[in-house]
Amino acid sequence: MVDVDSFIDEKREEIAASVGDDDAIIALSGGVDSSTAAALAHEAVGDQLTPVYVDTGLMRAGETEQVREAFAHVDSLRVVDARERFLDALSGVTDPEEKRHVIGEQFIREFETVAREVEASYLVQGTIYPDRVESEGTIKSHHNVGGLPERIDFDGIVEPMRDLYKDEVREVARELDVEVAERMPFPGPGLAVRVLGEVTEEKLAVAREATEVVETELADDDPWQAFAAVLGKATGVKGDNRVHGWVVAVRSVESRDGMTARAQHLDWETLQRIQSRITGENETVARVVYDITHKPPATIEYE
Ligand code: XMP
Repeated sequence: MVDVDSFIDEKREEIAASVGDDDAIIALSGGVDSSTAAALAHEAVGDQLTPVYVDTGLMRAGETEQVREAFAHVDSLRVVDARERFLDALSGVTDPEEKRHVIGEQFIREFETVAREVEASYLVQGTIYPDRVESEGTIKSHHNVGGLPERIDFDGIVEPMRDLYKDEVREVARELDVEVAERMPFPGPGLAVRVLGEVTEEKLAVAREATEVVETELADDDPWQAFAAVLGKATGVKGDNRVHGWVVAVRSVESRDGMTARAQHLDWETLQRIQSRITGENETVARVVYDITHKPPATIEYE
């Protein structure tokens, strides 16, 4: 990106030209990418745009309420409660790539339903460059690119930030006064790629609670991204009882663009505080481990 102001002008014109006199919906997640795409698209086509937030049930604690608050002034905001449909679609699915495809497809079906209701023919997405690179290569299909179904009921998908890295998106976000400009990245498939194997409500609840602990406890350590993932079950002792409880991995990384990352060097007391809160606040967690692997060889997310 050469210059933020000229980028914004160029994209404003490009979006207006693509959408023309039709209507569009913008897929919101509450994160930096989609909020910035929404701000750009709103500048470009104003009232022709309907923002749509799909509550997949795979979100972090309080996320849906935060989006409602952030967009309280936008009358056209649609919040779709798709929690049951996502969980049903994911039932029995254990392969990571298949999970991403199921989620990508369900997202599109939800957007198509709203688009039919508001008679919109274009879908605006906050896809960024690393989403495309990782999907086109052999790394993983990001839900909004490689995870898309073949048949899509839109005249076009508009991706104004498809060539930007995350740090460039943040520059644009600051320029457009996007409230969440500095927010930690969160993947579109949400907690589904942070619970290994089949997605169940129980695993999601553990990942959600533990992620809240990690985000709160590491707020002053300024990680690029930090979260908890549910790996499986292992033996532990709680009170006088032997238990077979969840193993939770804590991951905290430093990065510039998410393409490579370094596991963050955290102090022992911080790690112990996180461990003691996660095992103490959730009876079903038996063990907490800290992931010290950089990217590569690991990826940031677990699936
Ligand atoms: P990985 O796990 O590939 O993640 O090292 C790199 C960055 O991308 C985010 N990520 C995604 N974002 N859809 C997204 O919108 C996806 O399917 C997806 N997968 C990973 C991840 O959180 C990290 O910031």
